[in-house]
Amino acid sequence: MTGQSSRRRACLVAWLLATAIAAPGVLAESTVQPAETSGTAAPALPGTADPSLWPAYDYPVPVRPDHEARISDLIARMTIEEKVGQLVQADLCCVTPADVRKYKLGSILVGGNSGPGGNDLAPAPDWLEAADAFYLASIDRSDGGVGVPIIWGTDAVHGHSNIIGATIFPHNVGLGAMRDAALVEKIGAITAKEIRVTGQEWTFAPTVAVPQDFRWGRAYEGYSSDPELVASYVGAMVRGLQGPPENDNLLAGPWVIASTKHFLADGGTDNGVDQGDSTISEAELRDIHGRPYGPAIAEGVATVMVSFSSWHGRKMTGNHSLVTGVLKERMDFGGFVVSDWNAHGQVAGCTNESCPQALMAGVDMYMAPDTWKPIYADLLARAKSGAIPMSRIDEAVARILRVKARLGLFEAGKPSERPYSGRFDLLGAPEHRAVAREAVRKSLVLLKNEGVLPLAPGKRLLVAGDGADDIARQSGGWTLTWQGTGVDNSHFPGATSIWGGLKQAVEAGGGSTQLSPDGSYTEKPDAAVVVFGETPYAEFQGDRATLMLDPQLTAPYATMRKLQAQGIPVVAVMITGRPLYVNPALNAADAFVVAWLPGSEGGGVADVLVGDASGKPRFDFTGKLPAAWPRTGLIEEGTLFPFGYGLDYSSSTGEWTMLPELDASAAGGDSRLWFNAGTPAARWSLLVEGTGDEVQTRITTLPADALGGRVRVTAENFKVQEGARRFAIAGGSASVQLGNLDPVDVTRETNGDVMLLVTLRVWESPARARIGAVGPEARGFAAVDLPASEGYIRYGLPLKCLRDKGADVSRLTRPFVLETEGKADFAIAEVRLGTDAEQVLACR
Ligand code: BGC
Ligand code: BGC
Repeated sequence: MTGQSSRRRACLVAWLLATAIAAPGVLAESTVQPAETSGTAAPALPGTADPSLWPAYDYPVPVRPDHEARISDLIARMTIEEKVGQLVQADLCCVTPADVRKYKLGSILVGGNSGPGGNDLAPAPDWLEAADAFYLASIDRSDGGVGVPIIWGTDAVHGHSNIIGATIFPHNVGLGAMRDAALVEKIGAITAKEIRVTGQEWTFAPTVAVPQDFRWGRAYEGYSSDPELVASYVGAMVRGLQGPPENDNLLAGPWVIASTKHFLADGGTDNGVDQGDSTISEAELRDIHGRPYGPAIAEGVATVMVSFSSWHGRKMTGNHSLVTGVLKERMDFGGFVVSDWNAHGQVAGCTNESCPQALMAGVDMYMAPDTWKPIYADLLARAKSGAIPMSRIDEAVARILRVKARLGLFEAGKPSERPYSGRFDLLGAPEHRAVAREAVRKSLVLLKNEGVLPLAPGKRLLVAGDGADDIARQSGGWTLTWQGTGVDNSHFPGATSIWGGLKQAVEAGGGSTQLSPDGSYTEKPDAAVVVFGETPYAEFQGDRATLMLDPQLTAPYATMRKLQAQGIPVVAVMITGRPLYVNPALNAADAFVVAWLPGSEGGGVADVLVGDASGKPRFDFTGKLPAAWPRTGLIEEGTLFPFGYGLDYSSSTGEWTMLPELDASAAGGDSRLWFNAGTPAARWSLLVEGTGDEVQTRITTLPADALGGRVRVTAENFKVQEGARRFAIAGGSASVQLGNLDPVDVTRETNGDVMLLVTLRVWESPARARIGAVGPEARGFAAVDLPASEGYIRYGLPLKCLRDKGADVSRLTRPFVLETEGKADFAIAEVRLGTDAEQVLACR
């Protein structure tokens, strides 16, 4: 061990304990022998770090003899079952208070799509009630157990973002644009306080990723591509959430424990692939991605979450050299390490149900959302047989108990009795919203202004664009739901859309406003704001092949051009999680503002855009790009605006040189969209197949006959003209399929509870129907009911169902197959992956 405090801690522990809480260095790795941790004599495996090359820190949290005495006393009295229970975290989807009482679990979490009573959108009081129920179950000592209180973790990643009515702050990329660490600390403090209202103790934040490739769907969760900027924020956010490192009774004040994530190089994977592999050097790993962990440790961050990703082919979750060697030993991290959502299942030699390798690599707590039971049973069996040394289990338990003691959890009583609990007035309190609004103002980045800004308040303003009045969209992923989808303005009481803010500001100055998404108007406006950009996504669902705005989101370009042509000055406001190629908008608009993902306080946009009565700005633009802006869909092809760029009201843009506009189809589009607007995506084909020797037909031009005239394919309108394909089947068995030349791998999506979404309208329902996914070797089918419907319905079949029915989700050549028996008539409008089903199909 390095570091003064850990040496102190080691001495104390030795002095206090009869039980061996072994230092991580003495682990008997050979008791588990997967490729991941064995190999004593052989040269180091690829992806093995040398901790001596890394900076050493001192974990500043004071060692308290009374806490250490309590920990050793508990460990001495706990059964193996109780110890193993502490190491396991279950998701609310799949665990009850009775389970917690029985298995003595150390923690529960609420994933992006979970909530109390199975309701992701449950009202705030239900969360507190659930917190009490789980707490009371955990401290039940009626069977003679020690009753260690449980902790509940949640992704409060931009405010208490799972809770209706909470203040939603800009996502981290927007905070990165602010360059204001003091404000970041305030945001952390408010977030912690709002979390405490509903009874949780732990947030899985801040994300300290240093994204190097913004095609990554999580890039917006990171503050910046610049390690120094990220590092300058991390300490502030951790302090805001946890209070100072000396704080040894967090629950007595308005605090929670933080989790810096995801260790390590989540933002450094090749091509920005989520959960992918990083092949960078150890120096880059340390200096870019490791950089923020210094300030996190200096502030005493209580937990670290391990990344899903790998380094040189080796999953972080199984990498002892990094998790134990670098993080726990060299960096002296004194809290506990939690793994990510079933990430253990991806370690070589592991499954979702069994992975001692993660514990041996240094993971202290398994995030085993729906797999906690088998993981618990597996760890227990190995602990009993001695396959996992008791010293390692005790060390992990001690780390968890130490954090619980620091929280003051043993004395805090049930969640509803703690300070701030049940103070629902604090959720979205005006003074909290004011801070969020300040952050929105400061995060705006001005890329172009040919004099149209600031807008005069007393005039007629048109507000157009599909994103103008959409609080869910301006909040992005990880807002109420995992993907940020399936919610609308009604789920954001007290919040303000960008339109709402502009309306207030302009009307307060005596002007008039009109909201018109497509830019049509009744009275010619003096100016127009067009709000456009990305729609919400989270994790791999946001991965893209290029840095071009998805083609289906570019319709507002035409609106901008149309207004321009009518002599109306246009301000483009872009909602986005990342810098993207949007040259057509930059060219068409007279001013261009990047709003990032501002969250619930859209009023901050108007604060800066709308001037005062005398025509002067009320607030200036201060935001600077947190990452370079691309010239094309690939950053390698050049930078249009460098990192740190951003105009203010005093800078003059000068003459605008028209930027080259590329063919939008080069975007590669959204890889989750397999079929829409009547056509399969690039490299996909729409096929009709029958039985026996019937010839398969690839549907290209319409109308088409297939299977010797048994199937007639025509066009139907859906959203756009001929946006769907209708299949009239005279009888017999028929199968409509989407095929891809390259086998499609949907493993990550399956792990993440993503569904196959099929938008269908049925005129005549078939006698029997099933939906399946087919690969070269394996196939899986689920029976479905497709009743006749008046309109289109977006059905969702969980990918997990297809996997459970036998499909090899890592290799699908026909990822979508709809088979029918008998006479039938239906139309397919869209096939894609997602979570926003209107009707979830049972797995039969
Ligand atoms: C994400 C984490 C998150 C966890 C719990 C994972 O899929 O990678 O960032 O904290 O789920 O929702
Ligand atoms: C959960 C998220 C989690 C993801 C993992 C989702 O079902 O709701 O919290 O991060 O799966 O991929």
